[in-house]
Amino acid sequence: MSDYNLPVTPTTQSRLAKVDFDDLGFGDVFSDHMFSCEFYNGTWQDPQIVPYGPISIEPGALCLHYGQAVFEGLKAFRGVDHLLRVFRPEMNAERLQQSCERLCIPAIDQELFCAAIEQLVAVDEKWLPTRRGESLYIRPLIFATEPNLLVKPADRYLFLIITAPVREYFSTEGGGVSLRAEPKYTRAAMGGTGSAKTGGNYAATLLPGMESVALGFDQTLWLDGRDHCYVEEVGQMNIFFKIEDTFITPPLHGTILPGVTRNSVLTLLKDRGAKYEERPISIDEVLAAYEDGKLKEVFGAGTAAVIAPIQRIAYQDTILEFDVESSGLASQWLYDTIVDIQTGAAEDTYGWNRIVSAPQTPARSMTGS
Ligand code: COI
Repeated sequence: MSDYNLPVTPTTQSRLAKVDFDDLGFGDVFSDHMFSCEFYNGTWQDPQIVPYGPISIEPGALCLHYGQAVFEGLKAFRGVDHLLRVFRPEMNAERLQQSCERLCIPAIDQELFCAAIEQLVAVDEKWLPTRRGESLYIRPLIFATEPNLLVKPADRYLFLIITAPVREYFSTEGGGVSLRAEPKYTRAAMGGTGSAKTGGNYAATLLPGMESVALGFDQTLWLDGRDHCYVEEVGQMNIFFKIEDTFITPPLHGTILPGVTRNSVLTLLKDRGAKYEERPISIDEVLAAYEDGKLKEVFGAGTAAVIAPIQRIAYQDTILEFDVESSGLASQWLYDTIVDIQTGAAEDTYGWNRIVSAPQTPARSMTGS
């Protein structure tokens, strides 16, 4: 039981009735309330839940100039039993702490982080979508608000948590996701901020991402920053290759994000007795395995994306195509297993879910995706 019982200022103008739950996007509509907490005089203060709305910061705020900011992404689900569940918030709390350390931001109490999420989800429980594949996406963010143009850690910060009813990040209705292995630009280098969840990592991917889209691909597949030889991640998700019967994913050496879904996939593979390796995998090895007919499947794993099968990878002039429709794909099994746990359709033997106590409203309807 949490020690935190946060004050709530309820909205007087709910926007819920205006939301088209039959046509959700990803993160373009926000729920009625947000969590807010400020850091000043050397301590985090005034945690509370308030109506979602514009905030005021000075134009001199350090985050706007030097990017001292971190964020997280996790999800809450309305279960098949109508219970509300948040998936693995403790892991996000830990990763947020690591990101804060890297960006010189004062740590947040992990219990406050989890309590704030649970209480916010409870307050906005009517915003939780009901269809399989949909969820309430939770976005914690911390940024430096001290007005100052010195390049230094700030002495004031704002910690917000906002939520948004969402579908999955990638629509894979027309098949899987297509990737272009990036030969020139770099997402992260050893010693940099690649493993921290900070906005600059994402801003740096926009230009190469636009080039990938212009060439007909959904996303950029990042290669290592030194030689552009080893596969790293997709940017919105970690990546897995199935070569013969072994699953391979790049190791957490500091340049890629330690994904919660990545961790869940590895746990599920291990418990199923599947062979898996966390090791560097070069794009040449990927190409050779494809040529030899040994590369069976490629998929991405991320909170927003869940498990996204990869249909096409381009590297220079070579295009690799993958079957994403067959029955029996590991990506489908992993997707189903994770979503079943998240929605209470399968037993949560790992204790991954935190059940949120909230007044129960009748579910709109529970339909398949
Ligand atoms: C997530 O998967 O939660 C992410 O943060 C990726 C994203 C930038 C939508």
